[in-house]
Amino acid sequence: MNIAGKHYRTIWLDAEDPRVVRIIDQLALPHRFEIVELRRFSDALSAIKDMRVRGAGLIGATAAWGMYLAALGEGDRSLPEEAGRILKAARPTASNLAWAVDRMLRALAGPPEGRVERARREAQAISDEDAEYCRRIGLHGLRLIEQAAERKGGEPVNLLTHCNAGALAFVDYGSALAPVYAAADRGIPVHVWVDETRPRNQGASLTAWELGRYGVAYDLIADNAGGHIMQHGMVDLVITGADRVTSRGDAANKIGTYLKALAARDNGIPFYVAFPSSTFDFTMEDGFAEIPIEERDADEIRRISGQTASGGIETVRICADDTPARNWGFDVTPARYITGLITERGICDASKAGIRSLYPECEPE
Ligand code: MRU
Repeated sequence: MNIAGKHYRTIWLDAEDPRVVRIIDQLALPHRFEIVELRRFSDALSAIKDMRVRGAGLIGATAAWGMYLAALGEGDRSLPEEAGRILKAARPTASNLAWAVDRMLRALAGPPEGRVERARREAQAISDEDAEYCRRIGLHGLRLIEQAAERKGGEPVNLLTHCNAGALAFVDYGSALAPVYAAADRGIPVHVWVDETRPRNQGASLTAWELGRYGVAYDLIADNAGGHIMQHGMVDLVITGADRVTSRGDAANKIGTYLKALAARDNGIPFYVAFPSSTFDFTMEDGFAEIPIEERDADEIRRISGQTASGGIETVRICADDTPARNWGFDVTPARYITGLITERGICDASKAGIRSLYPECEPE
């Protein structure tokens, strides 16, 4: 991701001081671009819990670096299983978090000597792989935008996305937005409809910010506008990210994604879900019945934060403080509404057979 002419990842180990991991603070965006230091396991844990980092791939990578910081802090006496258990409980829906923790636990198993170095190498490998897989997702998804551009004879391709599945949600590139960036790099005219994504507004504060920095044309829309603009022929393609995808292709993503899939189906608009293989959960089949859905603090519904005219950040109530409210973070889009899955290995049908064609290892013979 380029910010003011400099390339950034969303998380990295300091080149001069290997005791420090740095992140882009996503709570400060879009009003301030700030880098925050993680020096202890507890810093990584709170960054995930407080959503200074968020997005499936990035919480996985942060968990990996958190395990590294735990090993570093406690040397040979550390208990990686305990650190892993605490991290896994921090955010329950995205598979990437548990996947990264399990991978770190495998790397940390064995003799205590050299554990810190093994943790560093594995966390770096997880970060590098996340970025590379997202780059490849971009190239596979690019084909869909190229085909739409051909059909439109040079008119901009209008894509709709929900939440933030861009570079900020991963180590770099993003999943749903990677094809958009690949198209923009090739001069293909593309325009993105950005859902604001209540209650935490990741679309308004992160996706819009990212697209703007990249120079991609976009318009921010209210979450409820998607169906209307689809009915009016203003959307050619929907691409969202995913936080967990089951063996038959059901996909959990930010709350509200399911309604976009329904509207897309009613209007004959292709609906794709983009994610790296770390988001698969092959132990689950029926996403609706099995995927754990995070329920967050109801104050996220009752209040909203933003910048005042004087530049300060304020949180205001939008209803009476004692208003009963519920706040589910994710919903599940059944595979039958998904046109295809865009992964680092290519695009496949959202079905057991489709997934097996790209990931034969998903089901032991
Ligand atoms: O709650 P968040 O911001 O961590 O939500 C996850 C997401 O960013 C979205 O659901 C996204 O579309 C999938 S993760 C790349």
